[in-house]
Amino acid sequence: MSDLSELARRRGFFFQANEAYGGVSGFYTYGPEGAALKRNVEESWRDRFVTREGNMEIDSPTVTPEPVFLASGHLDGFDDMLVECAECGESHRADHVVEDNTDIEDAETYPTEKVEDIIAEHDLVCPSCGAPLAGQPVEEFNLMFETSIGPGSGQPGYLRPETAQGMFTEFPRLKEYARNQLPFGVAQIGAGYRNEISPRNALLRAREFTMAELEYFVDPEGDGPDLDRVADVELPLYDADAQQSEGEEYVHLTPQEALDEGLVGGEWVAYFLARSKAWFERVGVDMERFRFRQHLPGELAHYAADCWDAEAEVDGDWVELEGVASRTDYDLSKHADHADDNFTVFKQYDEPKTVERATVDPDMAYLGPEFGGDAAAVADALEALAERDRAAFDGDEVTVEVDGEAYAVPTEKTGFSVEEVTESGRHIVPHVVEPAFGVGRAVYTVLAHSYEADEVDGEERDVLRLPAEVAPTTVGVFPLMDKDDMGDTARDLAADLREAGLSVTYDDSGNIGRRYRRQDEVGTPYCVTVDYDTLEDGTVTLRDRDTTEQTRVAADDLTELLPALRDG
Ligand code: GAP
Repeated sequence: MSDLSELARRRGFFFQANEAYGGVSGFYTYGPEGAALKRNVEESWRDRFVTREGNMEIDSPTVTPEPVFLASGHLDGFDDMLVECAECGESHRADHVVEDNTDIEDAETYPTEKVEDIIAEHDLVCPSCGAPLAGQPVEEFNLMFETSIGPGSGQPGYLRPETAQGMFTEFPRLKEYARNQLPFGVAQIGAGYRNEISPRNALLRAREFTMAELEYFVDPEGDGPDLDRVADVELPLYDADAQQSEGEEYVHLTPQEALDEGLVGGEWVAYFLARSKAWFERVGVDMERFRFRQHLPGELAHYAADCWDAEAEVDGDWVELEGVASRTDYDLSKHADHADDNFTVFKQYDEPKTVERATVDPDMAYLGPEFGGDAAAVADALEALAERDRAAFDGDEVTVEVDGEAYAVPTEKTGFSVEEVTESGRHIVPHVVEPAFGVGRAVYTVLAHSYEADEVDGEERDVLRLPAEVAPTTVGVFPLMDKDDMGDTARDLAADLREAGLSVTYDDSGNIGRRYRRQDEVGTPYCVTVDYDTLEDGTVTLRDRDTTEQTRVAADDLTELLPALRDG
């Protein structure tokens, strides 16, 4: 167990779930401190990415029927590489075995055969038992947890591997709530499930974890964001070229500069990188150990045109905390193809326009028996092709693909024509820019980056320098001793502060120094002590966790002072 995991367990941040039954890797329970920290991180995310951006938030089911993942591509493409040891039967991520034991850093972008070859060439062995792995097949393993919905054989379903599909499948309704006006954003904070081959590093690679995702729907030809609003943010960018040319470090650019230099794939990506960086700083990620790394071409997810990972250095490794991806119209187009609903937005022109429209004959019954039962699907595919690629109809034949099969249709049989029509607007498939965060990874990193061991009054102390906004407890309230009314006064004060909406811990056990240490260890930014003077003049000592300075303030002022300190 890593030092941080050990500290986290001892102090009630998180620990392996179901330990009484031996536990299963990849599942964690957040203890009282951790659950509060996680909730505060989520609240802070909601404040930034929902409230302040004027976005909507939804809460969709985690069990999802199979057709959704057939459309999204997850059934086919959401795989990791697995190698099973013939000796001990343990399964491992083949790309991790390679990356951990060679100087190759991006093995996940390689095809399985190449990974098999590398394993053989380097005589790599099973991380569990040390037996040689050469000659073992490397296979694609789908990461989704499968389930069955309803009794009997039921309907196949999956635990969602990302919350994003909820926003895409409900798009036809959500666009109505947004009054068909682009751009608009829909967010969701909730559980994601991935049957990771080798869960590791506690919350960093779990099988059930919380995600916070924003799907931002934009008109690809519409206005971008106002980058002046984020002009003061410097982005530490480590782009694909820099990664491929040895020795190159990352550059610091403003969002506008990054866009002007063609580094990032669009204004909205630049904008969300800036908002993300500022948010990570706000919740306590150390900006000296933070960067954005662009995905290499082979590393891009099946849906992404450009993607930047927000990464933080934790225990000497760079950990992906968030991906900001340009998903283009991939998702909505896929759902439009597979589902029976309208995934477009009607974009009204300022004035009606006369435009040329390319069409095919909608009733292609004449396609004939050679197209079997697929004639209607071929006709639909031709219609869609006419809309997006007229040049495809220039030759004698037009080829379209339906369910992986190519059909060549004589152009004259398609009834292709171009005519002039007057339009008041047109239907467009919005593009999606997606900042997708792992909440557990953020929590883990914030704990790792805020932990320090320092010395106070000659004594060593462990301290979590958590920002007050996310600290599980805002204030510890102590009586100097539980006698002469000091205990009752402190308990009353704690109750008043709780009524004022603050998170308060009352503690009267052990000496005051020990009580301060306990609060320092869980990151409580302020402590208040009720002493004999309090009984005389109503003042208390207010102690600051980071400076350990103590000031005298009126107890009655605390209900206003502490929220002000917490909220900056
Ligand atoms: N909808 C996009 C998406 O799912 P992703 O990069 O696969 O993108 C988003 O996941 C974030 O979820 C990652 O940046 C990471 O922070 C977190 N994440 C992914 N797999 C995880 C795991 N096994 N355990 C904990 N967090 C994970």
